[in-house]
Amino acid sequence: MTGIPERIALVGLSGSGKSTVARLLAGRLGWHMCDTDAMVEQMTGRSIPALFAEEGEAAFRECESAALAAALARTPVVIATGGGIVVRESNRVLLKDQALVVWLDAPTAVLIARLRTHEEERPLLAGDDPAVRLEALRAARLPFYRQVAHLILDTSQMSPLQVAERIIAVVTRTEN
Ligand code: S3P
Repeated sequence: MTGIPERIALVGLSGSGKSTVARLLAGRLGWHMCDTDAMVEQMTGRSIPALFAEEGEAAFRECESAALAAALARTPVVIATGGGIVVRESNRVLLKDQALVVWLDAPTAVLIARLRTHEEERPLLAGDDPAVRLEALRAARLPFYRQVAHLILDTSQMSPLQVAERIIAVVTRTEN
């Protein structure tokens, strides 16, 4: 990617702050904000947990890919993606080619602590030990996040606003 991008996509595991940062970033830039999870819920008229329970993960992934394609068409746009969007190769190709991809990361313990403050249910983290599940997802997805990311930010010591400002600084090539 060269020049100022017209699409920024945030990737990373659940709890990495993608939706909050995307909202702040889009507000600062005056761009559209798309959240692929919210788009899937709109498209299907169901919550993500209901979609997983009634149709399965594969059906969710189909909708997620359609949501990503629609989001990429709404330029200029900041896109918050679901943590598993990178699992599909076609999604990775679209993201890498069409957006500045920022991987928001933090240690699993930090992500779990953040998730505890949210009501939202994550079907892939349901069960007794979400930290073990999230760690397994991290191990499986690490190569994919590395592959698509143009920029990697460790957000463990940063507020969502600081993350948004850092991304703007990088995008506009100014230091802060
Ligand atoms: C998922 C993460 C969720 C949501 C779905 C699947 C995943 O989004 O897309 O529950 O595969 O990691 P968040 O990353 O916003 O939690």
